Amino acid sequence: MKVWTVANQKGGVGKTTTVASLAGLCALKGERTLIVDLDPHGSLTAYFRLDPERIEHSAYDLFTGSVSAQSLLCETGVERLMLLPAAVALATLDRQIGARPGMGLVLRRALQEISEQFDRVLLDCPPMLGVLMINALAASHHVIIPVQTEFLALKGLQRMVNTLAMMQRNRSYTLPYSVVPTQYDRRTRASIEALEELQRCYRQQLWDGVIPVDTQFREASKRGLPLTVLRPWARGSRAYRQLFGALDAAPSIPTVQAVNHG
Ligand SMILES: Nc1ncnc2c1ncn2[C@@H]1O[C@H](COP(=O)(O)OP(=O)(O)OP(=O)(O)O)[C@@H](O)[C@H]1O
Ligand SMILES: [Mg+2]
Repeated sequence: MKVWTVANQKGGVGKTTTVASLAGLCALKGERTLIVDLDPHGSLTAYFRLDPERIEHSAYDLFTGSVSAQSLLCETGVERLMLLPAAVALATLDRQIGARPGMGLVLRRALQEISEQFDRVLLDCPPMLGVLMINALAASHHVIIPVQTEFLALKGLQRMVNTLAMMQRNRSYTLPYSVVPTQYDRRTRASIEALEELQRCYRQQLWDGVIPVDTQFREASKRGLPLTVLRPWARGSRAYRQLFGALDAAPSIPTVQAVNHG
């Protein structure tokens, strides 16, 4: 079972879209796929037509230890794709258990319980550093950092990479990561310049493609299906397919280093 985390401390960069799109591709390929919504806003949960405000059991229950991971799995409209949903209660976790020792490995242990059932797990993180993101990073084999191609988003990326470097100090092995430019519009200067900056600062970790702006992502979310499943030949789907191929084949394990844009 391979676990990928999609994370960035900046909001609205395409994390949830990336999880849904890649998960759709995994399931289409025949992999038994699990997506886990760790964002208290529950965007991924809502994407698949469950209501994070009404849901009875969610990822929150993993942290209270009240139920097994197995009992939290929900069907999606996609064959072989299961969802472990979020509930708004996740927002209270940091206050309740954030400082308690051992709470950083709750998710890793929960996933181990169900590791025989899945080939691939994708974790969707909230856009903030806290106990949920720490759990996700501790459970994962690879981190995918979507970055909107605009200048302000680059600052968010720097923060995220510094977080990884900080986490690294507590691990005996390197957690590889890939930077994925998203919402790229080749007609705008902002996109072109942001991509050049990414190439300058993150050459080693930067995926060599881009996820273009594609209005069909919004339509797919309205339909409750990943765009990669709904319209496999949409521009956005083709880009995520290339990304999936590159990530799946990635043998390199670059060292996490702190980066400063000055
Ligand atoms: N490549 C794209 N082209 C066009 N729209 C996109 C693209 N990627 C994402 N979007 C849209 O941008 C919005 C934000 O995307 P998404 O929810 O995936 O970001 P996020 O990083 O998960 O946000 P949050 O931090 O709030 O969880 C959504 O409405 C989504 O449909
Ligand atoms: Mg999201």
